[in-house]
Amino acid sequence: MPDSNVKVTAPRLARMKAGGEKIAVLTAYDATFATVLDRAGVDVILVGDSLGMVVQGASTTLAASLDDMIYHSRCVSRAAGRALILADLPFMTYHTPDAAAQSAARLFREGGASMVKLEGGKARCDIVRFLVAQNMPVCGHLGLLPQSIHALGGYHMQAGDDESAAVLIQDALSLQEAGASLLVLECVPAALAGEISRTLKIPVIGIGAGADCDGQVLVLHDMLGLGFERRPRFVKDFLADSGSIPGAIAAYVEAVRSGHFPTAEHSY
Ligand code: KIV
Repeated sequence: MPDSNVKVTAPRLARMKAGGEKIAVLTAYDATFATVLDRAGVDVILVGDSLGMVVQGASTTLAASLDDMIYHSRCVSRAAGRALILADLPFMTYHTPDAAAQSAARLFREGGASMVKLEGGKARCDIVRFLVAQNMPVCGHLGLLPQSIHALGGYHMQAGDDESAAVLIQDALSLQEAGASLLVLECVPAALAGEISRTLKIPVIGIGAGADCDGQVLVLHDMLGLGFERRPRFVKDFLADSGSIPGAIAAYVEAVRSGHFPTAEHSY
């Protein structure tokens, strides 16, 4: 069990990976849930641009603006004492290194974030390098990229053939080389995600990426069984078997730490 009161930092996440300790990540968008997650021992609270969908009711994450992300990051960071606050850079706020630095600086300064997340691989490496040079820790995001949904044409598994798997591995290595501290892998085959997690030195957090990642993330509303008509394969409803929301969050943290979530049933 990790030290309950010591603030989680980027170097601490690296030590958790080195020590074989699984990292529990969940999204939150407000102070009340941030408090519940923090008390339950969630290591990283992601203020995801999924807020465009689960909070704002839009059909994609593109709805979340930088001001929205700053507002919700501030709500979360005020409440969380231990967890690291990871904030998404929203769509078209990091298309150049300068734009990315301006946007990220606002998430750190006004939103209270300790790390920012951006989507994409090799094409984003100059941006990652620039942010890291300004001492702003970065998390990459590969696999299914929700900000590219109009180009992808739908939410489905990525990197299913040898060629796209090889590109994904190269993208992951490039982000690490550019200085990323963390990587989210979304909706990719479990075997490939396991290989990437073993290859990279930085921690890899999976969502629909199997059990062999260094940690797991889910959207809060999804793991409470709210907000979707058909449950995505990688989601488990933790509220169904728990008597309460704090109980569901605690069950998720325990399942991630012990390796009981995800199972093959939640993987590709
Ligand atoms: O925005 C978000 O919540 C995310 C997770 C799905 C990883 O990026």
